[in-house]
Amino acid sequence: MMPLSEAIDARHSVRRYLNEPLTAAQAAALQAAVERINREAGLHVQLVLNEPRGFSTGLAYGTFKGVGNYLVMAGRKAPDLNERVGYYGEQLVLLAWQLGLGSCWAGLTYRSVKDAYRLEPGEKVVCMIALGHPDDERRRPRRKRAEQVSNVSDLTPAWFRQGVEAAIKAPTAVHQQKFYLEYLDAGQGLPRVRARRLFSLVGYTQTDLGIVKLHFEIGAGRENFAWAD
Ligand SMILES: Cc1cc2nc3c(=O)[nH]c(=O)nc-3n(C[C@H](O)[C@H](O)[C@H](O)COP(=O)(O)O)c2cc1C
Repeated sequence: MMPLSEAIDARHSVRRYLNEPLTAAQAAALQAAVERINREAGLHVQLVLNEPRGFSTGLAYGTFKGVGNYLVMAGRKAPDLNERVGYYGEQLVLLAWQLGLGSCWAGLTYRSVKDAYRLEPGEKVVCMIALGHPDDERRRPRRKRAEQVSNVSDLTPAWFRQGVEAAIKAPTAVHQQKFYLEYLDAGQGLPRVRARRLFSLVGYTQTDLGIVKLHFEIGAGRENFAWAD
């Protein structure tokens, strides 16, 4: 399988899909990851296969076509639920890319299909992730520069820049990229990095932040730093 850093470089949101089911191997790999994540993160993510109604909405934002599979990103209501959904959902997005599948986060453009998934009392759906065999051209949105989203400079270590570069490639709702990564002076112990979300009228910045933090960790190397509160 391609390394995660390569998946980060190559990934883009896919909104048009071929009318072809996932292979048994692709579905099994995703299902195993979903189960690991639900155990590890206390989420209730569900992989829904061969269900075409969830993404057949008429909404204008991001016109989806041919979505037959998706992930329901659900969990028990909690102050950090949205960020956890971002951090762990993006692991599934990158795994999908490694498996040769396209995906797209969806905060708005889906509908809830009865019996396709189930929620326990106290749980809610944060968003969904469409999945499938891509049927579109590569399209790379214009992205912010490292200096616009962080305090990267000649004085910060190379791993910090690599983390920021990976973070810039993270999907964010309406491509808002409302986050800031700050290298904090190392006192004793590991250098610390603070990840903040910025104000947005659109929302979803908490989920975006979870996604961004995962990308930063992969780019920077988890062993090089600790997250500051
Ligand atoms: C939390 C979240 C919600 C999103 N919601 C939608 C959506 O409802 N419809 C849609 O078409 N795209 C949605 N997107 C995809 C973004 O528009 C896309 O990631 C962004 O434009 C950057 O493009 P890229 O993923 O190709 O890098 C969402 C992304 C995130 C992270």
